[in-house]
Amino acid sequence: TMTARDEITRLTHWVEDFPVAGVRFADLTPVFADGGAFREIVGELSQCAGDDVDMIAAIDARGFLVGGGVADRLGTGLLAVRKKGKLPPPVHAQEFALEYGSDRLEIPATSVSLKGTRVLVVDDVLATGGTLVAASALLEAAGATVVGVGVVLEIGALRGRERMRERLGGTPVSALLTV
Ligand code: PRP
Repeated sequence: TMTARDEITRLTHWVEDFPVAGVRFADLTPVFADGGAFREIVGELSQCAGDDVDMIAAIDARGFLVGGGVADRLGTGLLAVRKKGKLPPPVHAQEFALEYGSDRLEIPATSVSLKGTRVLVVDDVLATGGTLVAASALLEAAGATVVGVGVVLEIGALRGRERMRERLGGTPVSALLTV
């Protein structure tokens, strides 16, 4: 059988100059559209933070696809880390810079308690790392312990892993494929 890495290599659709000129966009749509590839990805991401995970935090929007699968596979809770304006107040919020533009991530401040929760953060792509640094900081500020970060695809040249190490210390970052 093919590994997640093989499937991502085979099926990722690379698009030049999207969403803005100079960016090479990794479109994972065909990877998730393939049943065998999706199953393999969810399975391998589920193994990336050891046994001691209480909650998957999945990043808006494409992180939701894999995060839901991982939470189901592990039998953990699932928290959607939302882009600005999607959640009702009160929220904890964190601004961040993107490879293109800036945005804000939000999580509920009172309706879900994260105190003492061991969280695995899941997203589709690690690019500059801005999104995952912001998400991890937000979760830690709310009382969670981020025990790991798992992504489908890492764009190595953008040095997101290094940025995460500078800001988050030794939190393990797992990528199924690094290009
Ligand atoms: C993409 C991707 C990651 C983030 C990675 O999301 O899904 O969340 O960018 O970039 P970074 O490492 O430079 O922060 P996008 O902002 O395109 O949002 P979407 O998932 O809602 O389409």
